[in-house]
Amino acid sequence: MHFSSDEISSETAYKLLVSTIVPRPIAFVTSMDLEGKLNGAPFSFFNAMGGAPPVIVLGFQPNPDGSQKDTPNNILSSKEFVVNIVDEPLAVQMNICASSLPPDIDELALANIKTASSLDIAPPRIKASPASMECRLMENISLSGGGRIILGEIMHFHLRDDVVTQIDPLRIDINKLAPISRLNGPFYGRITDQFKIERPQ
Ligand SMILES: Cc1cc2nc3c(=O)[nH]c(=O)nc-3n(C[C@H](O)[C@H](O)[C@H](O)COP(=O)(O)O)c2cc1C
Repeated sequence: MHFSSDEISSETAYKLLVSTIVPRPIAFVTSMDLEGKLNGAPFSFFNAMGGAPPVIVLGFQPNPDGSQKDTPNNILSSKEFVVNIVDEPLAVQMNICASSLPPDIDELALANIKTASSLDIAPPRIKASPASMECRLMENISLSGGGRIILGEIMHFHLRDDVVTQIDPLRIDINKLAPISRLNGPFYGRITDQFKIERPQ
């Protein structure tokens, strides 16, 4: 079957995207508005984009009424945010933070999520996350349909001690990190089914 982007609705294009580009990693983003009001929400249009400097990308859809979500609003105004990786114990709380709530509601408090201070930026990281990255806004791209792509430069990586098995050279135990991923609809993936292929020399 074939779908041509200029012949399908944006809803169908979105469904094709989120059902075929799977699994997607999840960034649980903590951010603050200029008054210091804290916000947390998950985003699976997320990935690592470069190593020098370390760069991540986030993709934001507009709200159904066309307005912009609180997270991109906060990132654009404060220029800083934290990406927190989500493991299974955090999944239910992460999902609570995906509900559409007015900007004055602190989703993190509602989901009973504890935070820890960041080193260089105002938004705190999520204490229970196995890995958190303090980021600064690097680039903002507006899409014609109201969406937005934001690049962030990572200033600090925070990793739970048990995740780092060796410092030099660095070794991360991904089974300890145990990130979950977004599939389509309400489905999520685990990293418990793995196989190995060595790269040719
Ligand atoms: C696992 C998961 C992934 C999501 N990924 C995205 C995404 O990549 N882009 C997006 O705009 N919304 C995404 N959402 C929806 C937002 O989390 C949701 O709209 C949230 O209310 C936005 O909060 P905010 O207005 O506080 O930023 C996702 C939701 C879930 C549960």
